[in-house]
Amino acid sequence: MTQRVIEITSPVFLDPSTLPQVNALSSLFRHKRPLALEIGCGTGDFIVKRARLFPHINFIAIDIYNKGCLKTCRRVERYNLDNVRVIRVEARYLLSHFGPDELLSAVYINCPDPWPKKRHRRRRLVNRRFLTQLAHFLEPEGELYFATDVEDYAVEVAMTLEEMPHFVNRLRAPMAYALEDYPTSRYMRRFKEQGLPVHYIHRQRDPELNLLRAHMPELELSFSCRQEPDSNQSEEQPCRDI
Ligand SMILES: C[S@@+](CC[C@H](N)C(=O)[O-])C[C@H]1O[C@@H](n2cnc3c(N)ncnc32)[C@H](O)[C@@H]1O
Repeated sequence: MTQRVIEITSPVFLDPSTLPQVNALSSLFRHKRPLALEIGCGTGDFIVKRARLFPHINFIAIDIYNKGCLKTCRRVERYNLDNVRVIRVEARYLLSHFGPDELLSAVYINCPDPWPKKRHRRRRLVNRRFLTQLAHFLEPEGELYFATDVEDYAVEVAMTLEEMPHFVNRLRAPMAYALEDYPTSRYMRRFKEQGLPVHYIHRQRDPELNLLRAHMPELELSFSCRQEPDSNQSEEQPCRDI
């Protein structure tokens, strides 16, 4: 299904084409606070709840889905949140714009596109390479959250993390079926309403490990999103139906 791309003019939205001029992502906010990132914010249900719970943290919410970014902006504005900025941008493209010393206190990935067909699984965003890259952007003890309804995706990510020296697991098991104080996203809510389990993974970046950005696997920048004020543009509806 294709959809018309609507220009986003919200004060909480950052035009991704201006990213190269942004020296530090923390400068997008009025107050300097720890910075957290949600990858694939969808329509913003999760980030708004999280940002209201943690007003002392600045949140960047990204998605490649224009309409999702628009809805996220509307939600952020409705609650008058000064600690959220929304960017229509691909995850690795955004990471490539981080300053050399900029680190995240948390990364959230909720119900990422599952690519359930076996032959498409290599398209999944969250794999060892991406997790290694994320570790380089997390501060010591910085938190990584991953939630999915797709069991084999959860197992794959949990097992990969178990093998990686970059993260420590504070949960008693590789994954959980609930996380205290963790807000539900739109997709999570729908799955729970259908009686389907959501698998949660929570790790912390090992504070003992000294990670140098120069040693990080290179970010693949084959995809980027630019905001074109052309109402004839269309975008693919990226989310599966729920
Ligand atoms: C299945 S939806 C889930 C949305 C939301 N997290 C939720 O749980 O309700 C996955 C979202 O991730 C976005 N997405 C997928 N790959 C992405 C990437 N590489 N960078 C940024 N967003 C991405 C999609 O556009 C889509 O909106």
